[in-house]
Amino acid sequence: MSSKTPYKVLCVCLGNICRSPTAEIVLRHFCDEANLNIWVDSAGTSNYHPNKAPDSRSQQHAKQRGYDLSGLRARQLTTADFIEFDLILAMDYENLENMQLLMHHAQQEYGASQIRAQISLMSQHDTAYPQQAVPDPYYGGEDGFEQVLNQCESSSKAWVNLFKQQMEQ
Ligand code: 4NP
Repeated sequence: MSSKTPYKVLCVCLGNICRSPTAEIVLRHFCDEANLNIWVDSAGTSNYHPNKAPDSRSQQHAKQRGYDLSGLRARQLTTADFIEFDLILAMDYENLENMQLLMHHAQQEYGASQIRAQISLMSQHDTAYPQQAVPDPYYGGEDGFEQVLNQCESSSKAWVNLFKQQMEQ
């Protein structure tokens, strides 16, 4: 991790309208608060909602905690993301599997030496939600959106602690 070139993190879910936009804004908030030179973005493994703003329920619940999701627009994860980003974080195991498949395509397309990204679960280092999926809130009730925020805040703090340790080395 260099202090000049930003370290680039991509948060990934299925639709890129509920979980990963929330993760993007929350992780960015904690990185900025810790003064880390980290660039955060998000994408979806599906192309269900291209160019759509985050789900209004996600926006509303996030706003109640001071996060503004309104400027984000959905996009699909691409093979180019694996050469562009340093770390790609899956919200759940199904998305992690689809990311692994796409990474193989990226290796074939660009050559293995070009692959920059490490892939991991959003909750990988989160002792409160150890290796737990961030549940998909799309077809559920309001509680699901609060749960997404709780987990994104908790897991983002865990990543920021790790980033800080890595930057001190
Ligand atoms: P996300 O939630 O993956 O957290 O953005 C979903 C959004 C849309 C759909 C599924 C999950 N969908 O089926 O359209």
